Amino acid sequence: MIMYDIKEVIRSRRSIRKYREDIVSDEQIFRILDAGIWAPSAHNAQPWQFCVISSPAMKQRLAKAMGAKYRQDLIIDGEDADTIETLVSTSIERFTKAPVLLLVCLTMKGMDSYPDKKRQDAESIMGIQSVAAAIQNILLTIHTEGLSACWFCAPLFCQKEVQKTLGLSKDLLPQALITIGVPDEAPEVPKRFQVKDVVTFYQ
Ligand SMILES: Cc1cc2nc3c(=O)[nH]c(=O)nc-3n(C[C@H](O)[C@H](O)[C@H](O)COP(=O)(O)O)c2cc1C
Repeated sequence: MIMYDIKEVIRSRRSIRKYREDIVSDEQIFRILDAGIWAPSAHNAQPWQFCVISSPAMKQRLAKAMGAKYRQDLIIDGEDADTIETLVSTSIERFTKAPVLLLVCLTMKGMDSYPDKKRQDAESIMGIQSVAAAIQNILLTIHTEGLSACWFCAPLFCQKEVQKTLGLSKDLLPQALITIGVPDEAPEVPKRFQVKDVVTFYQ
């Protein structure tokens, strides 16, 4: 399905967590990433790097490594054993059953450096905001390709484990894992606040 109406593309995109087994082609992945790299970025630093994971063995290794850290955190939270196993196995299944996983990383290498924490934190936020802009382009383009996706924040909670599993250098900071595939569910449309409830005009 080819869609050209940007408003319709934005409104009809949904987070999809269940996929058919259909393969996503490399051409589609290149078109999707090409949309990502045309996002605006602070200083035009383009502070992003992507890992495309479609190898079943690597998906399994990554999901298991992330699941192990998730389990540790849930134990610290004091969750009961059954709940922990359900949550961890659901997480592993979500990532291993998606045809493609796209890991989006932030790199601060091309961003400015400051001696003080306040400005350095602001610079880091600019990097993160730039990566988020790229992710939104990616999500919308996935939708125009007739595919679906879901943005998962899980790598933020286990950055070291993700770096180690994928052999990433320390300057690549995992931000999001995006599952991609042909949708196998049609969830209800999550409600949005109305514009009038989230805006203040100064006229
Ligand atoms: C920063 C960010 C993190 C998210 N993390 C998760 C996640 O960990 N698990 C999940 O199921 N969905 C996650 N989502 C998807 C949201 O739940 C989803 O966008 C929201 O419910 C609205 O639904 P929609 O995308 O279909 O409009 C995340 C979205 C964003 C923007």
